[in-house]
Amino acid sequence: MSSDAQKRLAAARAVELVREGMVLGLGSGSTAAHFVDLLGGRVAAGLQVTGVPTSERTRAQAAALAIPISTLDAHPGIDLTIDGADEVDGRLRLIKGGGGALLREKIVAAASKRLVVIVDGSKIVATLGAFPLPVEVVPFGLAATCQHIEHAAADCGCRGTINLRRGADGAPFVSDGGHHIVDCAFGAIGDPEALATRLDGIPGIVEHGLFIGLASACIIADGAGVRVIGDLA
Ligand code: A5P
Repeated sequence: MSSDAQKRLAAARAVELVREGMVLGLGSGSTAAHFVDLLGGRVAAGLQVTGVPTSERTRAQAAALAIPISTLDAHPGIDLTIDGADEVDGRLRLIKGGGGALLREKIVAAASKRLVVIVDGSKIVATLGAFPLPVEVVPFGLAATCQHIEHAAADCGCRGTINLRRGADGAPFVSDGGHHIVDCAFGAIGDPEALATRLDGIPGIVEHGLFIGLASACIIADGAGVRVIGDLA
């Protein structure tokens, strides 16, 4: 089965969690896009839900599918958020932000009663960090912020290059919030909690892609079928 077919399978299992009247956080990325697409089919068939998108791209997709959209300000308590991830470990710790939407994704996740992550089998890791950790930063003082990241990471046993993300045109990537993203190729992150705490304290960092203590479950689709880490209820 292709990884795209695995993503769709995981998304289909997640759609089964949706109930009439729910306020849903709509994640970003290719796996979440499968969920939004399948949700659109359910809405077309008469299901009533409200979606709170985590990116402008997801907002556009949901609007095109006529999924009713609202804002986190109108619905600060979200029933269920379905989102993808770049890496997931056995303790439901995540790296997110490969698609550049990590800030809104984390705000929506933190406002959700449940965050269920949907992934293909390639995203499951024993130790986080093979995927470069995205960190969203303000453009002002970028070099100083990167130095702080380097020192904080070294204190946590992490070393590696820190690269400013660029778009296809070579210009720095700009997030929906108007910030830049640096991708930190640290390799294995032995203590994600310690690194997250240190990154939280650095001025210039808006948010980082370590999602710890946020996901309640992960739906994994791989060649063997669908399995779940955590609690879907
Ligand atoms: C978006 O910013 C990310 O957090 C995505 O959720 C993550 O990159 C997973 O994306 P894919 O589903 O496209 O792999």
